[in-house]
Amino acid sequence: MKGTREDLEMKKEISRRNFIKGTAALTAGAALMGLAGCAQEEAPTTPEAPKSKHVKVAVFSPTEGTKNAAAMLAAKFSDDVEFTDLTNAASRTEEVTFTAEDLAIVAAPSYGGQIPMIEGLFTNLKGDNTPCVVVCAFGNRAAENVYANIANIVSAQGFVVVGAIGLVTPHVFSSNAKAGHSRPNVEDNQTMAEFAKKVMDKLNSGTIEAMKLEGSAEVDFAKEISVAPKEFKAENCVKCGACATNCSTGAIDPQTLEIDESKCINCMRCSFVCEFNARSYDTAVKREFIEGKLSTKKPVEYFV
Ligand SMILES: Cc1cc2nc3c(=O)[nH]c(=O)nc-3n(C[C@H](O)[C@H](O)[C@H](O)COP(=O)(O)O)c2cc1C
Ligand code: SF4
Ligand code: SF4
Repeated sequence: MKGTREDLEMKKEISRRNFIKGTAALTAGAALMGLAGCAQEEAPTTPEAPKSKHVKVAVFSPTEGTKNAAAMLAAKFSDDVEFTDLTNAASRTEEVTFTAEDLAIVAAPSYGGQIPMIEGLFTNLKGDNTPCVVVCAFGNRAAENVYANIANIVSAQGFVVVGAIGLVTPHVFSSNAKAGHSRPNVEDNQTMAEFAKKVMDKLNSGTIEAMKLEGSAEVDFAKEISVAPKEFKAENCVKCGACATNCSTGAIDPQTLEIDESKCINCMRCSFVCEFNARSYDTAVKREFIEGKLSTKKPVEYFV
């Protein structure tokens, strides 16, 4: 991050994100106040969905925007929510089972309009004719193929996709905090409630049929995705190893702390977890595009 103004904006964004770190269990209302800075604002009345018994959320979320948005959505479906965080490479090796009585929520961010390029992502989830809601978090540009990517994976593993929703979250590369800033907001929260009600009505109506979602089902592992270059300040590094332990793909050597670029997906989790400001990224490169094209607020989109 370069320049005083950008530094300041990013610090604000990071402190906002630190606030939401580990808040997956927060109620939607509390999370919303923190996210939208709307503690004084009265939330509009939203239709209450009939509650699902047990919701199990499986999420990939390097900088926790997806996780937080999924937590807000899950609270619309049930007070009984369980989270499985599949962000760390080690967490994706164990099988996670779901029953026919659960409602699954499977959530991932949009990276260049598809799920992050991780071989086997979500393949450790095992359903048993389990109804599933697919979630894409996107940085105010587009979800594109993410719904179809996730649906394709989970449908082959015992899940029946009954709904899909695209939630706008802060764009990781937006240092000026314009793209997706303060999202999900009050309006998004209401749209989530509408969506949850429609899904629950569908589930309670009897026969559940798998949805066909638009887009390319296969992840393009050769896709070139424009990213912000990573930076490393060796003088700040205390060699705590947190970046290596938490890297989404195991790309950081725990001894040398060097990044194997062939494994790196540019998720920026290493920068997110480093408390010593040793890892960052130069957002100036993406800034023109983000300021120019992504500052108009995109609405939440959903399919039931
Ligand atoms: C490599 C990369 C590519 C991205 N591509 C897109 C994109 O094509 N469209 C978009 O709206 N957001 C894009 N984003 C923004 C993310 O979808 C958004 O910041 C999301 O909240 C990140 O999820 P997380 O906070 O759970 O890690 C991209 C982010 C990264 C790191
Ligand atoms: S998390 Fe930061 S301080 Fe710790 S080893 Fe990584 S770069 Fe160094
Ligand atoms: S090294 Fe790459 S894959 Fe690993 S956390 Fe950093 S940006 Fe993500």
